[in-house]
This record gives sequence, C-alpha cells and structure tokens, in this order.
Amino acid sequence: RIPPEIACAADYEAFARERVEEGAWAYLDGAAADALTHAENLKAFARIRLVNRVLADLAGGHTRLELFGCAFDHPVMVAPVAFQKLAHPDGELATVTAAGVLKAGMVVSAQASMDMEELARQAAGPLWFQLYIQPDRDFTLQLVRRAEKAGYRALVLTVDAPVHGARNSEQRAGFSLPPDVEAVNLKAMRPLPPYMAGPGESAVFASPLLAAAPGWKDLNWLAAHTNLPILLKGILHPADAARAVEAGASGIVVSNHGGRTLDTLPAAIEALPGIVEAVAGRVPVLMDGGVRRGTDIVKALALGAKAVLVGRPVIDGLAAAGAPGVAHVLHMLRAELEVAMVLTGCRTLADIDASILWQDR
Ligand code: FNR
Repeated sequence: RIPPEIACAADYEAFARERVEEGAWAYLDGAAADALTHAENLKAFARIRLVNRVLADLAGGHTRLELFGCAFDHPVMVAPVAFQKLAHPDGELATVTAAGVLKAGMVVSAQASMDMEELARQAAGPLWFQLYIQPDRDFTLQLVRRAEKAGYRALVLTVDAPVHGARNSEQRAGFSLPPDVEAVNLKAMRPLPPYMAGPGESAVFASPLLAAAPGWKDLNWLAAHTNLPILLKGILHPADAARAVEAGASGIVVSNHGGRTLDTLPAAIEALPGIVEAVAGRVPVLMDGGVRRGTDIVKALALGAKAVLVGRPVIDGLAAAGAPGVAHVLHMLRAELEVAMVLTGCRTLADIDASILWQDR
C-alpha cells in the first residue's frame, strides 16, 4: 500500500528503511567509505539554479524521446540495481512491471536476483541489460547471447567497479546475502580460484579478480561480438569518454555508481559537461547519481544528458510498496519534470538547454 503522506520520491526513503532488515539496508542504501561522493551527488544538484521563462508557447508539449531505436515516453530510466529481492520479495519482477506501466526504460542488473529471460517475458517495454565483463570471457559471451535472445535492446557495460569499493556500512552491519537471494543469472559462471593474501602480500593487486579485470581491448572484443548497442557506464573523465567512443561504445553513462565505488569522486552532474564536450554529439550521453526531483532531470538535460537513471529512489519505492511504489516514484519524477519544463518554457526535451540555468553575473 502506498503511504498517503508521500509527496515526492525522496519521501519513500524513511518508509523503506523501516521495512528492510538492517544488513540489507546497509547494502541497498549504502555508499563507499564516508559516503562523501553519494552526498555530493545530491548537493551538486541543489547548487545548480534554474531560471524560469514565461509566456512560452507550450501547446503540444511532450517528454518523448528515442534512444537506440527504443521509444520512451519520458527520459527517466530505472538504473541497474542488483539483488532487488533484498528490498521486496517480488524483486525485479515488480520493478519491471512498474517500469512497463509507466513506460520507463529499465536496465536489468547482471546481478539481478531473478531470471533475466523471465523478466524480459514480463516486460511491457524495452529492457536493457547491464553487464560486467566477467573474468570468464566465454561466460560473458553466453550472457550477451542470452540477452540478445531474450530481446534486451542494449547492453550497459559497467566499467567503474573492477574491485569492490570500501563498503564500510555493510561491514559494520555484518551484511551478507541471505540464502534465498542470489545472482541467479551468473550461476553457471566458473568461479575464480579462492585467494588468500599471504603475510606481506598485496590483497588487491595480487588477487585473481584484478588479473582478470577487463581493459580497453575487451570493449573492442565485445563490440565485435554483438550487434546490440553498448553503453559504457561509470565514466567521469573526458579522456575515457573519448576513448570509449573510439573503441566502439554507442553511448556513455556518466556515473560514479551512486558513490558506491571510489569515495571522494565528484558528483556525476559535475562531471557531465566535460563528458558532453568530449563526446561532441557522436553518441548519446546519459547520467545517474542523485536524481531525486524533476528539477534535477531538467538540469541534467540542460547540461547535455539525453536521459537520467534513478537507483535508490526506485528501490525505496519497491521496498515500501512493491510494484505500485516503484510506479509511484517514476510517476512523481515524470510529473515534476513536466512542471519544471512548463515553468522553464520548454515544450519538448529538445528545448531544454543551458539557457534555463541561472548564471551568476
Ligand atoms: C547499484 N548500482 C549498480 N550499478 C551497476 O552497474 N550494476 C549493479 O548491479 C548495481 N547495483 C546497485 C545496487 C544498489 C543497491 C545501488 C544503490 C546501486 C549503481 C546504480 O546503477 C546507479 O549508478 C546509482 O544507484 C545511481 O545513483 P542513485 O540514483 O542511487 O543516487
């Protein structure tokens, strides 16, 4: 049931926290180390000011867009979030259902806790599949084939997490996955040999995980093995964005992983303009991290993003109220976006540009 006092996406957080077990909450809501980057994602949006425009002709306005051959009613997408059964027993299925009803794009995590084919069958709109290049490259290709066959329309290759960030809040809460929640789509993966750092040995550089971590040549390899568009997620440096485009990426997701990998990275919205400049219109640029309001969405679009992805608010809606909660979150964000567009005089997404951002003189 949807709590009646909820008026905006962030209002779901308190309800979610009450309904989720402490360790799972540390995972779902947590960020790396001191959570400075996570906080910065929100604060950087707040620092940007809009300027309203009056008496504009808004007849026939809409929020539609097309990305990689997928038609969307609005630019609010569901970010890939692992293990959604931790938030609600209906897990990713609830999120897929809600995204379908709200005509929102959704990225299914490689670490989803439900079967990727089943999710695709239940989807009422286009789904994209998030992928890590796994240490076992054959297995990585099998996943790509499964995604293609199931009808996923794009691959979102996450490149900012070759090792786990310092998740101190999870450590303090003693979090581990409960036995009924697992990465079901990765089950057939050949496990890496167990690694124990010996005395005086480096725990990270010597681990087999890092030895098998993907590099730029793996992006060329992946692009040569699939016709699906590949978006690179987790880019903050303009040089990496330029190189990604040259290596065959069809899109970029500017992201700091919701502040969950390397703490003290800048806010994603602050990194966005530099990436947009480096990409120079060659491929679409999307962003995520800290999007909580319709005003955040117009700011991201004004700085050059084509669409935004939303992580924690969707999970909060899921935890608090299942599929209706997710649908409600997406609906509120879309409605706020439309209000912000009307008040800044933007009839379509194409009208949103830097002229709606307040400049200090
Ligand atoms: C994530 N994120 C993530 N990203 C990814 O590429 N693959 C994944 O499996 C996950 N899993 C995941 C779990 C949880 C609990 C969270 C909160 C996040 C990162 C996610 O896609 C996105 O980048 C951020 O969540 C965006 O920031 P906000 O909207 O949460 O502020």
